[in-house]
Amino acid sequence: MTTTRTQVGIVGAGPAGLLLSHLLHLRGIESIVLEARSRDYVEHRIRAGVLEHVVEQLLIETGVGARMQADGLPHEGVILRFGSRDHRIDFRTLTGKHVLVYSQHLLVRDLIAARLAANGTILFEADAVSLHGIDTSQPRIRYRQADAEHDLACDVIAGCDGFHGISRPAVEPHLRVFERDYPFGWLGILADAAPSSQELVYANHDRGFALLSMRSPTVSRLYLQCAPDEDVDAWSDDRIWAELQTRFSREGGFTLTEGRITQKGVTPMRSFVTEPMQYGRLFLAGDSAHIVPPTGAKGLNLAAGDVAVLARALEAFYRRGETALLDAYSATCLARAWKVQRFSWWMTSMLHRFATHSDFERRVQLAELDYVTSSVAASTSLAENYVGLPLPA
Ligand code: FAD
Ligand code: PHB
Repeated sequence: MTTTRTQVGIVGAGPAGLLLSHLLHLRGIESIVLEARSRDYVEHRIRAGVLEHVVEQLLIETGVGARMQADGLPHEGVILRFGSRDHRIDFRTLTGKHVLVYSQHLLVRDLIAARLAANGTILFEADAVSLHGIDTSQPRIRYRQADAEHDLACDVIAGCDGFHGISRPAVEPHLRVFERDYPFGWLGILADAAPSSQELVYANHDRGFALLSMRSPTVSRLYLQCAPDEDVDAWSDDRIWAELQTRFSREGGFTLTEGRITQKGVTPMRSFVTEPMQYGRLFLAGDSAHIVPPTGAKGLNLAAGDVAVLARALEAFYRRGETALLDAYSATCLARAWKVQRFSWWMTSMLHRFATHSDFERRVQLAELDYVTSSVAASTSLAENYVGLPLPA
């Protein structure tokens, strides 16, 4: 067993772990990132695609935004389609801001490249198996790499290992969990097809929700509301396109461009928050602490917000020996995370079909969509949440 030492031991090389390592480096704080998967795997894992304005700014200000600025697609609004009509929410007019469509796996690539260029250490195929001494000032992470076990000794552990990682379970008895499962999932596809709309289309149709998104001018990302345990093999390409054509239909016609489907998968929908997000010297960030249903496009953005708070708190700790910001970490993040939870839950509730809804509830849902898209106050509320609430000062 070998033991290595660093200041901050980070479990997980997703957006949270990589961005934290980058932000710490800029503050002169050392870290080592442990990642269970290979570099190739994390650099190709298709996930989120929408960056909030504040996250875009953070990436630019910290010097990792060059490719994102060149290849990202700024979006100044989104379309809500219901009753077969389009209603645009104009972010630029309502908030003065935009969001950026840029793939999560490209951001992961950019962050890995930046860390390696700065001689940072990311250990791939290094599976964290247990955490030790969390309630002491010298915690350790035991990990397995190439069939051997090693210890990483550190001052602080950042649990950035996602919803299925080991960090949160290690302190579960000290946490309270709040959760909600939704009675549906999303069947998502990537297709070699030019996006059929310049802006994202969130469609509420009698047969269920559908979302038109994109990754580039030649690649579409599309989702269909489905059963949470939907068998993806029951969905031939033809069946997927036929269902998408139906759910995106619009008065006066809408042409959904079809193309070769290169990826298919089902994502369950869940809201989940753990309180607090810290125990002893373990700080949870990103999906290890909270999950949002993807309807508000918030998961990746929330992860970035957490680590911005954590990096600042660790700077005060290392520079001045102050623990006040670290002590406040959980409360600071949760105040924002609950607002983001609320928005994601609200968008999900407003846009999906619920099998249990009575005709009355369905009419109320359509009235809410009508209100949101016709009232400046309500549209502004949607827009300011979608482009991103400010990061904590
Ligand atoms: P993750 O990205 O899950 O990273 C955790 C890392 O830890 C992984 O690399 C994992 O391999 C590693 N790990 C786990 N266990 C261990 C271990 N024991 N040892 C070492 N490493 C470990 N969010 C948005 O903001 N906008 C969107 O449009 C959006 N769309 C989405 C669409 C889909 C289909 C999905 C699935 C998610 C979407 N999300 C979206 C959510 C977003 O992808 C996540 O919120 C984001 O990945 C969270 O980042 P993270 O770093 O916290 O966790
Ligand atoms: C995506 O492009 O993957 C995406 C966009 C918006 C969402 C969710 C996912 O709300």
